[in-house]
Amino acid sequence: MAKQSGPSNIAVIGMEWGDEGKGKIIDFLAEKADVVARFNGGNNAGHTIEVGDKKIVLHLVPSGVMHKDKLNVVGNGLVIDSKVLLQEIKFLEKNGIKISPENLVISENAHVILPHHIEEDKKIGGAIGTTSRGIGPAYSDKAARIGLKVYEVVDENIFRKRVGSEEFYQEYKGYADALKPYVNDTSTIINYAIEKSKKILFEGAQGTLLDIDHGTYPFVTSSNTTAGGVCTGLGISPKKVQSVMGVCKAYKTRVGMGPFPTEITGAIGEKIQKIGKEFGATTGRQRRVGWFDSLVGKYAVMINGIDSIALTKLDVFTTIDKLKICVAYKHKGNILKNFTTNIKVLQDCQPVYEEMDGWWDDLTKIKNYEQLPNNAKKYLRRIEELLKVPISIISVGPKREQTIVARNEFLI
Ligand code: GDP
Ligand code: IMO
Ligand code: MG
Repeated sequence: MAKQSGPSNIAVIGMEWGDEGKGKIIDFLAEKADVVARFNGGNNAGHTIEVGDKKIVLHLVPSGVMHKDKLNVVGNGLVIDSKVLLQEIKFLEKNGIKISPENLVISENAHVILPHHIEEDKKIGGAIGTTSRGIGPAYSDKAARIGLKVYEVVDENIFRKRVGSEEFYQEYKGYADALKPYVNDTSTIINYAIEKSKKILFEGAQGTLLDIDHGTYPFVTSSNTTAGGVCTGLGISPKKVQSVMGVCKAYKTRVGMGPFPTEITGAIGEKIQKIGKEFGATTGRQRRVGWFDSLVGKYAVMINGIDSIALTKLDVFTTIDKLKICVAYKHKGNILKNFTTNIKVLQDCQPVYEEMDGWWDDLTKIKNYEQLPNNAKKYLRRIEELLKVPISIISVGPKREQTIVARNEFLI
Protein backbone atom coordinates (compact mmCIF):
# COMPACT_ATOMS: atom_id res chain seq x y z
CA MET A 1 0.00 0.00 0.00
CA ALA A 2 1.52 3.36 -1.02
CA LYS A 3 1.89 5.74 1.87
CA GLN A 4 -0.22 8.89 1.59
CA SER A 5 1.31 11.89 3.26
CA GLY A 6 0.38 11.69 6.92
CA PRO A 7 0.77 14.15 9.79
CA SER A 8 4.27 15.02 10.96
CA ASN A 9 3.27 14.79 14.59
CA ILE A 10 0.70 12.78 16.54
CA ALA A 11 -0.54 13.00 20.12
CA VAL A 12 -1.11 9.45 21.38
CA ILE A 13 -3.75 9.49 24.10
CA GLY A 14 -5.39 6.81 26.25
CA MET A 15 -9.16 6.77 25.71
CA GLU A 16 -10.20 5.09 28.97
CA TRP A 17 -8.77 4.51 32.43
CA GLY A 18 -5.16 3.91 31.37
CA ASP A 19 -3.31 0.73 30.31
CA GLU A 20 -4.83 0.79 26.84
CA GLY A 21 -1.51 -0.28 25.31
CA LYS A 22 -0.05 3.19 24.67
CA GLY A 23 3.51 1.95 25.20
CA LYS A 24 3.13 -0.75 22.57
CA ILE A 25 1.54 1.58 20.03
CA ILE A 26 4.08 4.38 20.59
CA ASP A 27 6.97 1.92 20.23
CA PHE A 28 5.41 0.70 16.96
CA LEU A 29 4.94 4.24 15.61
CA ALA A 30 8.34 5.40 16.87
CA GLU A 31 10.19 3.61 14.09
CA LYS A 32 9.21 6.49 11.80
CA ALA A 33 9.58 9.24 14.43
CA ASP A 34 12.48 11.50 15.37
CA VAL A 35 11.22 12.54 18.80
CA VAL A 36 9.00 10.92 21.46
CA ALA A 37 7.89 13.41 24.12
CA ARG A 38 5.98 12.52 27.29
CA PHE A 39 3.79 15.33 28.63
CA ASN A 40 2.12 14.26 31.89
CA GLY A 41 2.06 12.04 34.96
CA GLY A 42 4.93 10.33 36.69
CA ASN A 43 5.88 6.82 37.68
CA ASN A 44 2.23 5.98 38.25
CA ALA A 45 2.43 5.04 34.57
CA GLY A 46 3.62 1.65 33.37
CA HIS A 47 4.06 1.41 29.59
CA THR A 48 4.91 -2.07 28.36
CA ILE A 49 6.92 -2.76 25.21
CA GLU A 50 7.74 -6.20 23.85
CA VAL A 51 10.33 -6.54 21.13
CA GLY A 52 11.78 -9.95 20.31
CA ASP A 53 12.31 -11.76 23.62
CA LYS A 54 12.60 -8.49 25.58
CA LYS A 55 9.74 -7.14 27.67
CA ILE A 56 10.31 -3.69 29.14
CA VAL A 57 7.99 -1.70 31.41
CA LEU A 58 8.69 2.03 31.31
CA HIS A 59 7.49 4.39 34.03
CA LEU A 60 9.16 7.70 33.20
CA VAL A 61 11.38 7.23 30.15
CA PRO A 62 9.36 7.77 26.93
CA SER A 63 8.44 4.80 24.75
CA GLY A 64 10.79 5.67 21.88
CA VAL A 65 13.76 4.30 23.76
CA MET A 66 13.76 0.83 22.19
CA HIS A 67 14.75 2.39 18.87
CA LYS A 68 18.21 3.82 18.25
CA ASP A 69 18.70 7.49 17.42
CA LYS A 70 15.37 8.85 18.70
CA LEU A 71 15.24 11.77 21.07
CA ASN A 72 13.12 11.01 24.14
CA VAL A 73 11.81 14.05 25.98
CA VAL A 74 10.45 14.15 29.54
CA GLY A 75 8.32 17.30 29.55
CA ASN A 76 7.60 19.99 32.12
CA GLY A 77 4.16 18.50 32.80
CA LEU A 78 5.58 15.50 34.64
CA VAL A 79 6.35 14.94 38.30
CA ILE A 80 9.65 13.09 38.55
CA ASP A 81 10.93 10.74 41.21
CA SER A 82 14.63 11.06 40.49
CA LYS A 83 15.49 7.83 42.30
CA VAL A 84 13.03 5.88 40.12
CA LEU A 85 14.23 7.58 36.95
CA LEU A 86 17.84 6.63 37.69
CA GLN A 87 16.83 3.04 38.45
CA GLU A 88 14.98 2.96 35.13
CA ILE A 89 18.01 4.25 33.22
CA LYS A 90 20.16 1.56 34.91
CA PHE A 91 17.61 -1.13 34.10
CA LEU A 92 17.54 -0.08 30.44
CA GLU A 93 21.32 -0.08 30.22
CA LYS A 94 21.38 -3.60 31.71
CA ASN A 95 19.08 -4.58 28.88
CA GLY A 96 21.49 -3.21 26.31
CA ILE A 97 19.67 0.08 25.74
CA LYS A 98 22.17 2.88 25.95
CA ILE A 99 20.87 6.06 27.60
CA SER A 100 22.71 9.37 27.31
CA PRO A 101 21.86 13.07 26.98
CA GLU A 102 21.89 12.34 23.23
CA ASN A 103 18.67 10.31 23.46
CA LEU A 104 17.09 11.50 26.72
CA VAL A 105 16.37 15.04 27.89
CA ILE A 106 14.48 16.08 31.01
CA SER A 107 12.65 19.37 31.44
CA GLU A 108 14.18 21.75 33.94
CA ASN A 109 10.62 22.84 34.71
CA ALA A 110 9.21 19.44 35.68
CA HIS A 111 8.42 19.09 39.37
CA VAL A 112 10.04 16.53 41.63
CA ILE A 113 8.59 13.91 43.93
CA LEU A 114 10.26 13.74 47.33
CA PRO A 115 9.93 11.08 50.06
CA HIS A 116 7.29 13.01 52.01
CA HIS A 117 5.02 13.05 48.94
CA ILE A 118 5.14 9.26 48.82
CA GLU A 119 4.46 8.98 52.56
CA GLU A 120 1.49 11.30 52.24
CA ASP A 121 0.11 9.41 49.22
CA LYS A 122 0.32 6.14 51.17
CA LYS A 123 -1.74 7.75 53.96
CA ILE A 124 -4.43 9.50 51.92
CA GLY A 125 -4.46 7.70 48.56
CA GLY A 126 -6.29 4.59 49.79
CA ALA A 127 -9.80 5.93 49.20
CA ILE A 128 -9.03 6.42 45.51
CA GLY A 129 -6.72 3.45 45.13
CA THR A 130 -3.76 5.52 43.95
CA THR A 131 -0.47 3.94 42.93
CA SER A 132 1.14 5.38 46.14
CA ARG A 133 3.94 6.93 44.12
CA GLY A 134 3.49 10.45 45.51
CA ILE A 135 1.85 11.78 42.34
CA GLY A 136 -1.11 13.62 43.91
CA PRO A 137 0.90 15.30 46.72
CA ALA A 138 3.62 16.44 44.27
CA TYR A 139 1.05 17.99 41.90
CA SER A 140 -0.69 19.54 44.95
CA ASP A 141 2.57 21.29 45.87
CA LYS A 142 2.96 22.45 42.27
CA ALA A 143 -0.54 24.00 42.30
CA ALA A 144 0.08 25.50 45.74
CA ARG A 145 3.29 27.05 44.39
CA ILE A 146 5.51 25.40 46.96
CA GLY A 147 6.84 22.60 44.73
CA LEU A 148 10.44 22.03 43.73
CA LYS A 149 11.38 22.12 40.08
CA VAL A 150 14.08 20.02 38.48
CA TYR A 151 16.34 23.05 37.88
CA GLU A 152 16.21 23.84 41.59
CA VAL A 153 17.17 20.33 42.59
CA VAL A 154 20.15 20.14 40.25
CA ASP A 155 21.44 23.51 41.48
CA GLU A 156 23.25 22.61 44.68
CA ASN A 157 22.89 26.07 46.22
CA ILE A 158 19.16 26.30 45.67
CA PHE A 159 18.51 22.68 46.71
CA ARG A 160 20.55 23.11 49.89
CA LYS A 161 18.69 26.29 50.79
CA ARG A 162 15.29 24.71 50.23
CA VAL A 163 15.70 21.27 51.84
CA GLY A 164 19.23 21.15 53.25
CA SER A 165 17.89 20.34 56.70
CA GLU A 166 15.86 17.35 55.53
CA GLU A 167 17.25 13.88 56.13
CA PHE A 168 16.92 12.86 52.48
CA TYR A 169 19.08 15.78 51.31
CA GLN A 170 22.38 13.90 50.84
CA GLU A 171 20.75 10.95 49.08
CA TYR A 172 18.73 13.14 46.70
CA LYS A 173 21.66 15.43 46.01
CA GLY A 174 23.43 12.35 44.66
CA TYR A 175 20.49 11.60 42.35
CA ALA A 176 20.37 15.23 41.21
CA ASP A 177 24.06 15.15 40.29
CA ALA A 178 23.52 12.00 38.24
CA LEU A 179 20.56 13.50 36.37
CA LYS A 180 22.08 16.92 35.78
CA PRO A 181 23.53 16.14 32.32
CA TYR A 182 20.05 15.27 31.03
CA VAL A 183 18.36 18.48 32.22
CA ASN A 184 17.50 20.96 29.53
CA ASP A 185 15.02 23.54 28.22
CA THR A 186 12.72 21.00 26.59
CA SER A 187 10.10 23.48 25.31
CA THR A 188 12.72 25.13 23.14
CA ILE A 189 13.96 21.73 21.98
CA ILE A 190 10.45 20.59 20.97
CA ASN A 191 9.54 23.87 19.28
CA TYR A 192 12.78 23.74 17.32
CA ALA A 193 12.03 20.15 16.28
CA ILE A 194 8.55 21.21 15.12
CA GLU A 195 10.03 24.11 13.16
CA LYS A 196 12.41 21.71 11.45
CA SER A 197 9.45 19.45 10.50
CA LYS A 198 10.76 16.60 12.61
CA LYS A 199 8.40 13.69 13.17
CA ILE A 200 7.16 13.76 16.74
CA LEU A 201 5.00 11.55 18.94
CA PHE A 202 3.47 13.17 22.01
CA GLU A 203 3.15 10.40 24.58
CA GLY A 204 0.23 10.49 26.99
CA ALA A 205 0.18 8.64 30.28
CA GLN A 206 -2.98 7.36 31.96
CA GLY A 207 -6.22 7.89 30.02
CA THR A 208 -9.07 10.32 29.33
CA LEU A 209 -11.23 9.22 32.27
CA LEU A 210 -8.33 9.66 34.69
CA ASP A 211 -7.90 13.33 33.65
CA ILE A 212 -8.06 15.72 36.62
CA ASP A 213 -10.57 17.96 34.78
CA HIS A 214 -12.38 15.61 32.40
CA GLY A 215 -12.26 12.27 34.20
CA THR A 216 -14.43 10.56 36.79
CA TYR A 217 -13.32 12.91 39.59
CA PRO A 218 -12.28 12.27 42.34
CA PHE A 219 -11.31 8.80 41.03
CA VAL A 220 -8.71 10.29 38.72
CA THR A 221 -5.02 11.10 38.67
CA SER A 222 -3.70 14.62 39.29
CA SER A 223 -2.67 15.70 35.79
CA ASN A 224 -4.24 16.47 32.42
CA THR A 225 -4.04 13.19 30.56
CA THR A 226 -6.04 14.44 27.55
CA ALA A 227 -4.85 16.12 24.33
CA GLY A 228 -4.91 19.60 25.91
CA GLY A 229 -2.18 18.42 28.24
CA VAL A 230 0.22 18.10 25.30
CA CYS A 231 0.44 21.90 25.03
CA THR A 232 0.79 22.73 28.71
CA GLY A 233 2.92 19.68 29.47
CA LEU A 234 5.48 20.38 26.75
CA GLY A 235 5.21 24.11 26.14
CA ILE A 236 3.87 24.13 22.59
CA SER A 237 0.97 25.89 20.89
CA PRO A 238 -2.31 24.01 20.19
CA LYS A 239 -1.77 25.10 16.59
CA LYS A 240 1.24 22.78 16.37
CA VAL A 241 -0.48 19.51 17.23
CA GLN A 242 -1.39 18.03 13.87
CA SER A 243 -3.17 14.83 14.72
CA VAL A 244 -4.53 12.88 17.67
CA MET A 245 -4.60 9.10 17.91
CA GLY A 246 -6.71 7.50 20.64
CA VAL A 247 -5.54 4.18 22.06
CA CYS A 248 -8.45 2.02 23.07
CA LYS A 249 -8.82 -1.59 24.22
CA ALA A 250 -11.24 -4.00 22.55
CA TYR A 251 -12.77 -4.28 26.04
CA LYS A 252 -12.30 -1.92 29.00
CA THR A 253 -10.20 -2.15 32.17
CA ARG A 254 -9.80 -0.05 35.28
CA VAL A 255 -7.36 -0.28 38.21
CA GLY A 256 -8.31 1.29 41.51
CA MET A 257 -11.64 2.62 42.68
CA GLY A 258 -14.42 4.51 40.88
CA PRO A 259 -17.50 3.87 38.74
CA PHE A 260 -17.23 1.47 35.78
CA PRO A 261 -20.69 0.99 34.20
CA THR A 262 -19.79 -1.92 31.88
CA GLU A 263 -17.80 -3.87 34.48
CA ILE A 264 -18.17 -7.64 34.01
CA THR A 265 -18.41 -9.77 37.10
CA GLY A 266 -18.37 -13.56 37.06
CA ALA A 267 -16.87 -16.20 34.79
CA ILE A 268 -16.61 -14.22 31.52
CA GLY A 269 -14.93 -11.30 33.30
CA GLU A 270 -12.45 -13.71 34.88
CA LYS A 271 -11.79 -15.35 31.52
CA ILE A 272 -11.03 -12.03 29.79
CA GLN A 273 -8.95 -10.93 32.78
CA LYS A 274 -6.93 -14.15 32.53
CA ILE A 275 -6.45 -14.27 28.74
CA GLY A 276 -5.69 -10.53 28.66
CA LYS A 277 -3.26 -10.89 31.62
CA GLU A 278 -4.92 -7.89 33.23
CA PHE A 279 -2.56 -7.07 36.05
CA GLY A 280 -1.25 -3.53 36.58
CA ALA A 281 2.18 -2.85 35.02
CA THR A 282 3.07 -0.56 37.94
CA THR A 283 1.48 -2.05 41.06
CA GLY A 284 0.66 -5.58 39.94
CA ARG A 285 -2.96 -5.09 41.04
CA GLN A 286 -5.68 -7.04 39.22
CA ARG A 287 -7.43 -4.83 36.67
CA ARG A 288 -11.22 -4.72 36.66
CA VAL A 289 -12.61 -5.77 33.26
CA GLY A 290 -15.61 -4.45 31.31
CA TRP A 291 -17.36 -4.58 27.91
CA PHE A 292 -16.71 -1.97 25.22
CA ASP A 293 -18.49 1.23 26.21
CA SER A 294 -19.29 3.41 23.20
CA LEU A 295 -20.36 6.30 25.47
CA VAL A 296 -16.84 6.38 26.93
CA GLY A 297 -15.45 6.11 23.40
CA LYS A 298 -17.52 8.98 22.01
CA TYR A 299 -16.62 11.10 25.02
CA ALA A 300 -12.89 10.48 24.51
CA VAL A 301 -13.24 11.32 20.81
CA MET A 302 -14.90 14.63 21.72
CA ILE A 303 -12.55 15.70 24.53
CA ASN A 304 -9.38 14.87 22.58
CA GLY A 305 -10.46 15.52 18.99
CA ILE A 306 -9.39 12.01 18.03
CA ASP A 307 -8.63 11.53 14.31
CA SER A 308 -8.10 7.78 14.40
CA ILE A 309 -8.06 4.91 16.83
CA ALA A 310 -5.45 2.28 17.65
CA LEU A 311 -7.52 -0.63 18.94
CA THR A 312 -5.54 -3.05 21.10
CA LYS A 313 -6.03 -6.54 22.51
CA LEU A 314 -8.49 -7.74 19.87
CA ASP A 315 -6.78 -11.16 20.13
CA VAL A 316 -7.99 -11.53 23.72
CA PHE A 317 -11.59 -11.97 22.52
CA THR A 318 -10.82 -15.21 20.64
CA THR A 319 -13.08 -17.96 22.15
CA ILE A 320 -15.47 -15.47 23.80
CA ASP A 321 -18.82 -16.62 22.42
CA LYS A 322 -20.85 -13.40 22.60
CA LEU A 323 -19.40 -9.90 22.68
CA LYS A 324 -21.28 -6.97 24.12
CA ILE A 325 -21.06 -3.28 23.23
CA CYS A 326 -22.72 -0.71 25.45
CA VAL A 327 -24.76 1.74 23.35
CA ALA A 328 -26.62 3.67 26.08
CA TYR A 329 -27.07 3.90 29.86
CA LYS A 330 -30.33 3.45 31.70
CA HIS A 331 -30.58 5.92 34.56
CA LYS A 332 -33.65 6.02 36.82
CA GLY A 333 -36.01 5.18 33.96
CA ASN A 334 -34.27 7.49 31.46
CA ILE A 335 -32.02 6.52 28.58
CA LEU A 336 -28.70 8.39 28.41
CA LYS A 337 -26.86 8.45 25.10
CA ASN A 338 -23.87 10.47 26.29
CA PHE A 339 -21.24 9.80 28.93
CA THR A 340 -21.30 11.86 32.11
CA THR A 341 -18.50 12.62 34.56
CA ASN A 342 -21.09 13.29 37.27
CA ILE A 343 -20.25 10.23 39.31
CA LYS A 344 -23.47 10.50 41.34
CA VAL A 345 -25.31 9.79 38.07
CA LEU A 346 -22.68 7.43 36.66
CA GLN A 347 -22.73 5.09 39.64
CA ASP A 348 -26.48 4.50 39.14
CA CYS A 349 -26.25 3.87 35.39
CA GLN A 350 -27.01 0.44 33.94
CA PRO A 351 -25.53 -0.36 30.53
CA VAL A 352 -27.77 -1.10 27.54
CA TYR A 353 -26.00 -3.65 25.36
CA GLU A 354 -25.93 -4.80 21.77
CA GLU A 355 -24.68 -8.35 21.36
CA MET A 356 -22.42 -9.62 18.59
CA ASP A 357 -21.06 -13.04 17.72
CA GLY A 358 -17.44 -13.77 18.61
CA TRP A 359 -14.82 -15.87 16.78
CA TRP A 360 -12.57 -18.84 17.46
CA ASP A 361 -9.67 -18.05 15.14
CA ASP A 362 -6.28 -17.15 16.61
CA LEU A 363 -5.54 -13.54 15.58
CA THR A 364 -2.01 -13.26 16.90
CA LYS A 365 -0.27 -14.01 13.61
CA ILE A 366 -2.55 -12.03 11.32
CA LYS A 367 -0.70 -9.37 9.35
CA ASN A 368 -3.46 -7.52 7.51
CA TYR A 369 -7.06 -6.46 7.92
CA GLU A 370 -8.41 -8.72 5.18
CA GLN A 371 -7.27 -11.86 7.04
CA LEU A 372 -9.32 -11.06 10.15
CA PRO A 373 -12.38 -13.27 10.73
CA ASN A 374 -15.65 -11.73 9.56
CA ASN A 375 -17.04 -11.38 13.06
CA ALA A 376 -13.93 -9.49 14.16
CA LYS A 377 -14.35 -7.14 11.16
CA LYS A 378 -18.00 -6.64 12.09
CA TYR A 379 -17.02 -5.78 15.66
CA LEU A 380 -14.46 -3.21 14.45
CA ARG A 381 -16.90 -1.69 11.96
CA ARG A 382 -19.56 -1.32 14.64
CA ILE A 383 -17.08 0.55 16.86
CA GLU A 384 -16.16 2.86 13.96
CA GLU A 385 -19.84 3.48 13.30
CA LEU A 386 -20.65 4.28 16.94
CA LEU A 387 -17.59 6.47 17.56
CA LYS A 388 -17.62 8.01 14.05
CA VAL A 389 -13.83 7.69 13.86
CA PRO A 390 -11.77 5.29 11.72
CA ILE A 391 -9.60 2.58 13.25
CA SER A 392 -6.09 3.03 11.85
CA ILE A 393 -4.25 0.35 13.84
CA ILE A 394 -5.38 -3.03 15.18
CA SER A 395 -3.17 -4.68 17.75
CA VAL A 396 -3.37 -8.48 17.99
CA GLY A 397 -0.68 -9.21 20.56
CA PRO A 398 1.83 -7.49 22.85
CA LYS A 399 4.77 -7.68 20.43
CA ARG A 400 5.79 -4.92 18.07
CA GLU A 401 5.16 -7.05 14.99
CA GLN A 402 1.67 -8.09 16.15
CA THR A 403 0.25 -4.91 14.70
CA ILE A 404 -2.05 -4.44 11.72
CA VAL A 405 -2.10 -1.09 9.94
CA ALA A 406 -5.59 -0.61 8.53
CA ARG A 407 -5.24 3.02 7.36
CA ASN A 408 -1.73 4.34 7.06
CA GLU A 409 -2.74 7.92 6.22
CA PHE A 410 -3.12 8.51 9.98
CA LEU A 411 0.45 7.40 10.77
CA ILE A 412 3.54 9.61 10.64
P1 GDP B 1 -0.13 1.41 28.70
O1 GDP B 1 -0.03 1.87 30.10
O2 GDP B 1 -1.26 2.05 27.96
O3 GDP B 1 1.15 1.51 27.94
O4 GDP B 1 -0.49 -0.15 28.76
P2 GDP B 1 0.18 -1.24 29.73
O5 GDP B 1 1.52 -1.58 29.22
O6 GDP B 1 0.07 -0.84 31.15
O7 GDP B 1 -0.84 -2.43 29.56
C1 GDP B 1 -1.09 -3.02 28.33
C2 GDP B 1 -0.74 -4.53 28.43
O8 GDP B 1 -1.27 -5.20 27.32
C3 GDP B 1 0.75 -4.79 28.38
O9 GDP B 1 1.04 -5.94 29.12
C4 GDP B 1 1.02 -5.02 26.89
O10 GDP B 1 2.15 -5.84 26.66
C5 GDP B 1 -0.23 -5.75 26.51
N1 GDP B 1 -0.70 -5.54 25.13
C6 GDP B 1 -0.65 -4.41 24.37
N2 GDP B 1 -1.29 -4.60 23.20
C7 GDP B 1 -1.74 -5.87 23.22
C8 GDP B 1 -2.50 -6.66 22.29
O11 GDP B 1 -2.91 -6.23 21.23
N3 GDP B 1 -2.79 -7.95 22.68
C9 GDP B 1 -2.38 -8.47 23.86
N4 GDP B 1 -2.71 -9.73 24.15
N5 GDP B 1 -1.66 -7.75 24.75
C10 GDP B 1 -1.36 -6.48 24.42
P1 IMO C 1 -0.67 4.24 32.40
O1 IMO C 1 0.11 5.40 31.85
C1 IMO C 1 -3.92 2.75 34.92
C2 IMO C 1 -4.92 5.14 38.44
C3 IMO C 1 -4.65 4.52 39.80
C4 IMO C 1 -5.75 5.19 40.62
C5 IMO C 1 -5.80 6.59 40.02
C6 IMO C 1 -5.00 7.63 40.79
O2 IMO C 1 0.15 3.01 32.59
O3 IMO C 1 -1.91 4.01 31.60
P2 IMO C 1 -2.39 8.11 41.06
O4 IMO C 1 -1.28 7.25 41.59
O5 IMO C 1 -2.17 8.59 39.67
O6 IMO C 1 -2.72 9.26 41.99
O7 IMO C 1 -3.69 7.15 41.05
O8 IMO C 1 -5.29 6.49 38.72
N1 IMO C 1 -3.75 5.18 37.55
C7 IMO C 1 -3.59 4.38 36.49
N2 IMO C 1 -4.34 3.35 36.06
N3 IMO C 1 -2.83 3.14 34.22
C8 IMO C 1 -2.08 4.19 34.63
O9 IMO C 1 -1.07 4.70 33.89
C9 IMO C 1 -2.43 4.84 35.83
N4 IMO C 1 -1.90 5.87 36.53
C10 IMO C 1 -2.74 6.08 37.55
O10 IMO C 1 -4.80 3.13 39.75
O11 IMO C 1 -7.00 4.57 40.36
MG1 MG D 1 0.06 1.07 32.02
